[in-house]
Amino acid sequence: MSLITRRIFLAATAASTGTLAVPALGQGAYPARPISMVIPFAAGGPTDTVGRLIAQAMGTDLGQTVVVENVGGAGGTLGAQRVANARPDGYTILLHHIGMATIPTLYRRLAYDAINGFETLGLVTEVPMTLIARRNIEANNLAELVALIRRRGEALNYANAGIGAASHLCGLLLMKAVDTRMTTVPYRGTGPAMNDLVAGTVDLMCDQTTNTTEQIRAGTVRAFAATTPERIDTLPDLPTAAQGGLSGFEVSVWHGLYAPRGTPAPIVARLNQALVKALQDEGIARRFADLGTAPVPVARATPQMHREFWQADIAKWRPLIQAAGQFAD
Ligand code: MLT
Repeated sequence: MSLITRRIFLAATAASTGTLAVPALGQGAYPARPISMVIPFAAGGPTDTVGRLIAQAMGTDLGQTVVVENVGGAGGTLGAQRVANARPDGYTILLHHIGMATIPTLYRRLAYDAINGFETLGLVTEVPMTLIARRNIEANNLAELVALIRRRGEALNYANAGIGAASHLCGLLLMKAVDTRMTTVPYRGTGPAMNDLVAGTVDLMCDQTTNTTEQIRAGTVRAFAATTPERIDTLPDLPTAAQGGLSGFEVSVWHGLYAPRGTPAPIVARLNQALVKALQDEGIARRFADLGTAPVPVARATPQMHREFWQADIAKWRPLIQAAGQFAD
């Protein structure tokens, strides 16, 4: 049976039986070997943290190791490209975030189809962001930080993970809210950027609580605002940007799991089943809670809900990015 014939057969079987349980793939049950989970940012950062927790739990459910592979660079587009162009056989999957919604507008030329190149496997989590700075920054609160940014402008360095990263989007919103540009310094992920912020070689960054909570608590960086409408439970002393006097500076980062377009429906269903198991894992829920986040409710973790949410988010960010006039090319 050719690959295409087999895919049609699998899809037809799933549709006619109404069962999307473990697929029979002719040569044996899926998965028959380890699965690669591509993280499109550097190791040690927030996407990596979420990905490794999920990968381990999914691997337990699938009975095969889910190997995390960090493919950082170009704002998360290199990792996404690797997966969009991989064989749609269920052995290469992608954990990506809100960048999946901004990249289709930020990048007018890409070596993969950023909208139609993927099957959605389910949403994973939504993470608040925090505005942080080197600990000896010359400001004591958000109002003073805003004054400093307006005074020093491009003399200040803002670290991000490239155009398309959540830290890039957050910086774009910050610079718009403050109406001042800073110099951006791109990294392959906010894991390595955090090392430079702690060392004081860059001035500012906006990053997810899955990467910032422990540094804020340890006092190795200074936190100025949460980018959420409400304060973050795990950082109760940190005001929201609006409480600190800065409106129009709100964003949180959602994560989802993807497979290449054309991955057979039974495999999509099996991966979703393993994801849902991971989201119900108490250890993961506890670790997420420590880091200021939570697994999405399982009702939101369906491929369909994920696709609808993603497409709506592309439409939400498109006019804002176009108005900011900042494109990658
Ligand atoms: C990372 O994992 O390094 C971050 O999610 C990068 C970013 O989007 O800011």
